Amino acid sequence: MEYKKIGIVGAGTMGRGIAADLLFHGMSCILVDISNDVLERAKAEIIRIIRFAPLANASLPKLNAEDAISRIKFTTNIEEISDAEFIIENIPEKWDMKETVYRELSKVCKSEVNFAVNTSCISVTKVASVTDRPDKVIGIHFMNPSYLKNCVEVIRGYHTSEECIDNVKALLGQLNKDVVLVNDYPGFVTNRISHLFMNEAAFVVQDGVAKPAEVDEIFKKCYGHKMGPLETADLIGLDTVANSLDILYESYQDPKFRCCPLLRKMVDANLLGRKTGKGFYQY
Ligand SMILES: NC(=O)c1ccc[n+]([C@@H]2O[C@H](COP(=O)([O-])OP(=O)(O)OC[C@H]3O[C@@H](n4cnc5c(N)ncnc54)[C@H](O)[C@@H]3O)[C@@H](O)[C@H]2O)c1
Repeated sequence: MEYKKIGIVGAGTMGRGIAADLLFHGMSCILVDISNDVLERAKAEIIRIIRFAPLANASLPKLNAEDAISRIKFTTNIEEISDAEFIIENIPEKWDMKETVYRELSKVCKSEVNFAVNTSCISVTKVASVTDRPDKVIGIHFMNPSYLKNCVEVIRGYHTSEECIDNVKALLGQLNKDVVLVNDYPGFVTNRISHLFMNEAAFVVQDGVAKPAEVDEIFKKCYGHKMGPLETADLIGLDTVANSLDILYESYQDPKFRCCPLLRKMVDANLLGRKTGKGFYQY
């Protein structure tokens, strides 16, 4: 099957990047958020991405931004997602919020539609348990920003069917993504490991061992990473990092995932990284 119309729930950091990615690859989407302000900002950001991302990545097509944006329906009414062929959910990393949305999606979407959970750490099996279709629920952990990253971690929940895996591979094939398929435990591979890095880097700053730029420089110059852990945390959003650590801590009951107090304080002060203009760095 070739997918044409995708439903995206949540128009924040991830939702808008994925919407742009779908446009670059010829698809249309219904973009749902609870806030009209967020949808307005998402629209402006997607237009900016359509105009400028092809300059950074020559494999992306040059599109007319006005034509492309007309392929997105922006709405605060989740019922308008009912004719989507596939759902990609990107709401905050909070279980109570995800639970409410998946119960709504189960009522609104056609029974054959697959639900892709773009979660950082929440168990895909747990999400599936509150839907009417556990075999059609799968994790798609997109990298940020989606349109510049060509690999996706796909997570097989306990009940995820082979057909659902094939469907998600077909959709990601349309987006030219490589897939690494893993099994479901909170944080999967990526975030179970990367959040320890980011959290410990915050402790290093809190303890006065090094400044953020020094921590990141060591990772880039000594280890050859493209980005350091604190730049990465700012890109993800410090609120999302803290929420993910809380989920890992609760899920594994392991103190190694306790959130660094400095990280928590920065979230309380609305220093969330790129999305608020200040985090470990100023933007
Ligand atoms: N930020 C990253 O780098 C990254 C990478 C991969 C996965 N993720 C995961 O993707 C998900 C979204 O993260 P994000 O960084 O885009 O978060 P975000 O806070 O930037 O955006 C979340 C959006 O969801 C909206 N929302 C809240 N409740 C909603 C509802 N009921 N219906 C529709 N929209 C709703 C919010 O208004 C907000 O615009 C999280 O689970 C996160 O862990 C994030």
